[in-house]
Amino acid sequence: MIIYRAKNYQDMSRKAANIISAQIIMKPDCVLGLATGSSPVGTYQQLIEWYKKGDLDFSHVTSINLDEYKGLGPDNCQSYRYFMNTNLFDHVNIDKNRTFVPNGLEMDSEKACSDYNQIIAREGGIDLQLLGLGHNGHIGFNEPGAAFEKETHCIDLTESTIEANKRFFASEEDVPKQAYTMGIKSIMQARKILVIISGESKADILKEILYGPITPAIPASILQLHNDVTIVADEAALSKLP
Ligand code: F6R
Repeated sequence: MIIYRAKNYQDMSRKAANIISAQIIMKPDCVLGLATGSSPVGTYQQLIEWYKKGDLDFSHVTSINLDEYKGLGPDNCQSYRYFMNTNLFDHVNIDKNRTFVPNGLEMDSEKACSDYNQIIAREGGIDLQLLGLGHNGHIGFNEPGAAFEKETHCIDLTESTIEANKRFFASEEDVPKQAYTMGIKSIMQARKILVIISGESKADILKEILYGPITPAIPASILQLHNDVTIVADEAALSKLP
């Protein structure tokens, strides 16, 4: 495991974008595993900037996202597909047909998940998986207690997540109650993993996943067992490390 120290969020984003750019330059038809959330927004902005300068070409890249809310389609501004379109795909020359996000509109969970597993296998697996880290150690939607051996599956959102998401929807009934997520097994099968972590609020959990026991209670602790993990964290997130 390699840990890169960044000064702040912006520096973390630049370093992460550099690693992703290197991947694209070394293997133009690579498969990138991508994430949503606040952590990767700056990384995507940096990649867009370099694309606009002519330094990056996404035309042969395939992307496979970690997760999606069940019930939300691409036009819903809370969907992860919408997030990816607006934060990255709409601004670079990636072929949208080569960008994959679990199908939130497929209400048959088993089908949605097995279709997604087939896509990952058909594309030859993920070359570089980008991850953010949840405050409780979750990765994707794999919350504490998640089994390590799962591929894409449907999860029930916790009460606290539903409560927190309420403000983004017209009414509580509209808030998604479930999501599709790659499982820990899918994530661990990626050939390389890049985790980006920013802010003091993640300092405790970062220390825990690096130095604590490997346990489903802290899903990201499994990353200790992967043989090619790069962490890019800012000083605030690294502040609790020995
Ligand atoms: C996003 C995802 C989540 C986030 C995590 C961190 O696709 O799967 O696991 O990476 O919740 O979120 P932020 O970056 O908003 O702190």
